[in-house]
Amino acid sequence: MNETLKLRLEARRDLTSEITEFTFASSGDAPLPPYEPGAHLTLNTPSGNWRSYSLTGVNTSADRYVIAVKREEGGQGGSNSMHADLSIGNLIEARVPKNAFSLETAPRYLLIAGGIGITPILSMFFALRKECKPVQLIYLTRSAEDTAYLDALTAQDAACVIVHHDNGDPEQIIDLWPYLQTPEDCHLYYCGPAGLMQAIYLNSIHWPRSQVHSEDFAGIVAHSGTAHPFRLRRAATDELFDVPADKSILDVLRENGIAYESSCESGTCGTCRMTLTAGEVAHRDIVLSDEERHTAIMPCVSRAAGEEITVEF
Ligand code: FES
Repeated sequence: MNETLKLRLEARRDLTSEITEFTFASSGDAPLPPYEPGAHLTLNTPSGNWRSYSLTGVNTSADRYVIAVKREEGGQGGSNSMHADLSIGNLIEARVPKNAFSLETAPRYLLIAGGIGITPILSMFFALRKECKPVQLIYLTRSAEDTAYLDALTAQDAACVIVHHDNGDPEQIIDLWPYLQTPEDCHLYYCGPAGLMQAIYLNSIHWPRSQVHSEDFAGIVAHSGTAHPFRLRRAATDELFDVPADKSILDVLRENGIAYESSCESGTCGTCRMTLTAGEVAHRDIVLSDEERHTAIMPCVSRAAGEEITVEF
């Protein structure tokens, strides 16, 4: 189910004061599995926490995996340990790349990225440019100093790339409505921090849903609409737990003194897998296959699709 790879860090370079790019090669003779734009690489970071990062590479069949990682103040340690503890030549365990944010064939594309949300978008942009597809990229950051891959993007045709810095001033935030007003046959892909995601969602609410594709700031879980509260039933005892809209199943179990093993808490590592015995699930992980989704759930991210589900733990 989750084929494991051993990667060797070949290079690292600072893109900004907070974002570092890591280039991995295979640690052995076997070539790395290929991937498509929008795919993620899940790594066992030096902290011991599994984390997923978008692959930024342009040549997706090349024998290298390239990711860009932002250091997070107060983060859970995975990304910070990549910055602090990973040196050239070190080996790291990884899973075969998966893609929950893939490009669909479309007449034209609008890509919008905010901050580190550029990572999946970058791969898409260069893939589309390579295929001479009509594409426009809007890239929003605080300042030029905070902008990863600025040189590579400003070297592109200016008609294809808009880079906007708001300098941390709400008055300078770009108005996206002119770009989103008329969807026609365009497909929209976006990724960035929560405020930007919300702004784009609201400005594109009139778009056909089949033409809108997004990924949350963590670069992991496909945006799945608004969560609603539901009941969780424990099969063995018939106990019921109320899961509110703003909490995960794992949160609720912890609040009830039930320790349940987890790692990434982002639906990517497979650690928290739980058996599903009844009810319909809104799956938000990138671990389970379509078949497995009938009998399992990842409680760190997934929820009931209806009012109740029954699980074993
Ligand atoms: S803790 Fe990793 S998938 Fe849930």
